[in-house]
Amino acid sequence: MQSMDETPATSVSHPILEIDDLVLDMGEKRVLDHLTLEFWPGHVHAVIGPNGAGKTTLAATIMGLAGYTQFSGDIRFGGESLRGLGVDQRAARGITLAWQEPARYEGLTIRSFIGAGARDRSEAALADVLARVGLDPAQYLDRAVDRTLSGGERKRVELASILAIEPRLVLMDEPDSGIDVEALNRIFDAIKHLKARGATVLLITHSLAVLRQADHAFLICSGKLMKKGLVGKIEEFFGDACLPCSHQNEPEPGKRDRDLRSVAEDGQ
Ligand SMILES: Nc1ncnc2c1ncn2[C@@H]1O[C@H](COP(=O)(O)OP(=O)(O)OP(=O)(O)O)[C@@H](O)[C@H]1O
Ligand SMILES: [Mg+2]
Repeated sequence: MQSMDETPATSVSHPILEIDDLVLDMGEKRVLDHLTLEFWPGHVHAVIGPNGAGKTTLAATIMGLAGYTQFSGDIRFGGESLRGLGVDQRAARGITLAWQEPARYEGLTIRSFIGAGARDRSEAALADVLARVGLDPAQYLDRAVDRTLSGGERKRVELASILAIEPRLVLMDEPDSGIDVEALNRIFDAIKHLKARGATVLLITHSLAVLRQADHAFLICSGKLMKKGLVGKIEEFFGDACLPCSHQNEPEPGKRDRDLRSVAEDGQ
């Protein structure tokens, strides 16, 4: 496997997604602060950080949601800048977002919801993606994506719809929120399935269990990159330094520069 922590002189592989010196302000607050990140095709990456670190904002900016388009720096997907492209255009290029809190759609059945973007709309294919997230197709296909579904069921239906789309890049914002332990294992299986199909997955989380599903992770704090590397290394650092966070989402003065220096020394 191509190591993500090396920059080979002659590589056949290029990052699928490049975040290049991204800065985004919300009102007076700098929410994303000169972020530079690279995501590799067919890999599972985590973006980890405490509450308020800027994780959801990063996902919304990559997806191009309204209110998240005024940034400096660049976001490139498959080498092409996403600047100026709307959500639909980004979706058409193969980028999808699974929300921290999925929306409800009154009156829309799960069959129609999943079928809308599915590559294969056959009954068998729709049943397959529902089964993959642990929902019995016979019970769920004709139910509505409305308030009668629990929060965990809505998260699973949304993930099933993403499996059906077969996207190139999946941004998953806290895939474990509102999910019980058994369903969580189904979600982890679905992440492996996406990876096996060649998709790149970006897991946004502050959970160590979710972090462990990734190959590689970025730790952000207060919109800044603190550390990056293979998951074992980031898990150790995050567990020691961030759980609990001793400085309320403000990187300690001087510490971030030391951390980034150690990242550079590691060649990562
Ligand atoms: N529209 C906005 N106006 C002002 N501040 C905002 C806005 N949106 C987000 N923020 C602030 O930006 C910071 C990052 O928010 P974000 O939702 O990206 O955090 P997060 O890392 O996803 O946190 P969590 O783990 O709690 O989901 C927070 O301090 C938040 O209050
Ligand atoms: Mg969030």
